[in-house]
Amino acid sequence: MITRRGADASWLDRYGPWAVVTGASEGIGREIARDLARRGVNIVLVARRAELLARVATEIEQSSPVETRVIAADLGKSEDVRHVLLGCEALDVGLLVASAGFGTAGNFLATGIEDEIGMLDVNCRAVLAMSKHFSARFAARKRGGLILFGSIVGFQGVGNAANYAATKAYIQTLAEGLAVDLKPFGIDVLSCAPGPVETGFAARSNLSPTISADPRRVARETVAALGHRTTVKPGMLAKVLINSLGTLPRFLRTMILSGIMASRTKHHNGSKAQSRSNQSA
Ligand SMILES: NC(=O)c1ccc[n+]([C@@H]2O[C@H](COP(=O)([O-])OP(=O)(O)OC[C@H]3O[C@@H](n4cnc5c(N)ncnc54)[C@H](OP(=O)(O)O)[C@@H]3O)[C@@H](O)[C@H]2O)c1
Repeated sequence: MITRRGADASWLDRYGPWAVVTGASEGIGREIARDLARRGVNIVLVARRAELLARVATEIEQSSPVETRVIAADLGKSEDVRHVLLGCEALDVGLLVASAGFGTAGNFLATGIEDEIGMLDVNCRAVLAMSKHFSARFAARKRGGLILFGSIVGFQGVGNAANYAATKAYIQTLAEGLAVDLKPFGIDVLSCAPGPVETGFAARSNLSPTISADPRRVARETVAALGHRTTVKPGMLAKVLINSLGTLPRFLRTMILSGIMASRTKHHNGSKAQSRSNQSA
């Protein structure tokens, strides 16, 4: 039944009335927040840059009949993760979209250890903490959803992005297992595994641009897939890449993707792109 401007009542009842979207200041997270708002879901927008979040919140409230909250947090810090969870305590949250993440690129010997550990904290540790917290809340209300972010690089090891690919393999494996554990409690779990998407991600990861999917399409396909499958490969590019690579032995996939990453890595001898973006955030 359609209630408010395109809002599907059964969908809203399952995953609403509130969703927490991390990485909502830009990129895929922002597009998912917009998509959810069009479905009538109220949104808690989380990322570090409060000003950008406030702008997204205003735009969402002006274009959809929903409420928003903004929580500025660095998900690389456990106290900030706790702050987000506390900030959501009074809200009836039915969906977590854990889109915040970043990548490092380049030979493992050339990347900085702080960036690598920081990436583990944001891409994995925060996602685990938030998934654990919201799973318990969703189980108590017997419905809800988790959307976690893997990647095409998460299905095998990838040189020149070794730790990033490992963080995404962790998420892919986590999501597949959680989908089994949480299904009896009415909770749907989805791993979104995109190929390259046209956001600021590549530049921040120190990667040269390549043919990329539209983030609005990625968001649309991802939200639509929730409750229907465990992994979505949004966009034609991800489907073609993952499905064609999927027929090859794992070591060959590693060789091919490592070669692609090498060709996209601008500075092989000491990338500090994410450090710079962290400092400027
Ligand atoms: N774009 C791609 O090609 C691609 C491909 C495969 C998978 N993915 C995955 O998809 C997800 C979204 O990527 P995207 O393309 O949307 O990236 P993006 O455009 O770079 O956006 C990343 C978002 O994460 C937030 N973020 C980064 N570090 C954070 C931190 N420490 N604490 C809180 N928020 C943080 C950023 O906000 P602030 O800077 O304001 O904190 C921003 O909102 C990521 O998990 C990424 O790994 C992306």
